[in-house]
Amino acid sequence: MTTRPYIVGNWKMHGTRAMLAEARAIDRAAERLLKVEVAIAPPFTLIHATRKEANLIGIGAQDVHAADGGAHTGDISAAMAKDAGAGFTIVGHSERRADHKETNALVKEKAEAAIAAGMNVIVCVGETEAERDSGKAEAVVANQLSGSLPEGEGVAEKITVAYEPVWAIGTGRTPTVDDIGTMHRHIREKLVATFGEEGEAIRILYGGSVKPDNAAELLAADEVGGALVGGASLTAESFLGIIIAAAAEDQDDKS
Ligand code: PGA
Repeated sequence: MTTRPYIVGNWKMHGTRAMLAEARAIDRAAERLLKVEVAIAPPFTLIHATRKEANLIGIGAQDVHAADGGAHTGDISAAMAKDAGAGFTIVGHSERRADHKETNALVKEKAEAAIAAGMNVIVCVGETEAERDSGKAEAVVANQLSGSLPEGEGVAEKITVAYEPVWAIGTGRTPTVDDIGTMHRHIREKLVATFGEEGEAIRILYGGSVKPDNAAELLAADEVGGALVGGASLTAESFLGIIIAAAAEDQDDKS
């Protein structure tokens, strides 16, 4: 088990081949910062090319279909993403839950399909602003975890959880370090209740407006094992700022 901070860039629907230069620069930087595990999830169209450009960092998909294959126009199976070079996939990102009406049950199916295809998964959870304001954030996240986490022999070691409050994504707003710590402790309890001792080792990332200038503070929150980064992962310069902050954070004795 690795305890290195895990910093994952989610490029969302950004990137043409011109972005490969950023991937190469991120990979070069990661080579010097071995205390941090770095990965990016480019759009499907760039997975193969990114894998060829970047040797050291992890490459993942942003989603996969739950089926192995078949008549699903426009979709990509886990085996296809893996074949293109993805070692992991994000599932259940709030943008997919909202844009594509993905339910917890579907997210779970996707996670199980990806694991069956030999991939790791980053399962995303997080409350909306209205849910937080009405005091339901923890209940919502607990419910998402219950419904979305994959089941099966040996799955725990394939899972990373990303806590991403919907209202913090792309807004420049973040929860307080205390609120992040409180939520991450709840997530940890739930993971241990679900997977027993193996639940202790599952990394829990924070995501939502992580930037070079707030990364050190956010990564220092309790039970935060890394970050899922959207906007600030699109240039090597800003993503590197976060990776450097994570490398420095790792030197502190957090536990
Ligand atoms: P953001 O996105 O860093 O742009 O807020 C995070 C995410 O959606 O994963």
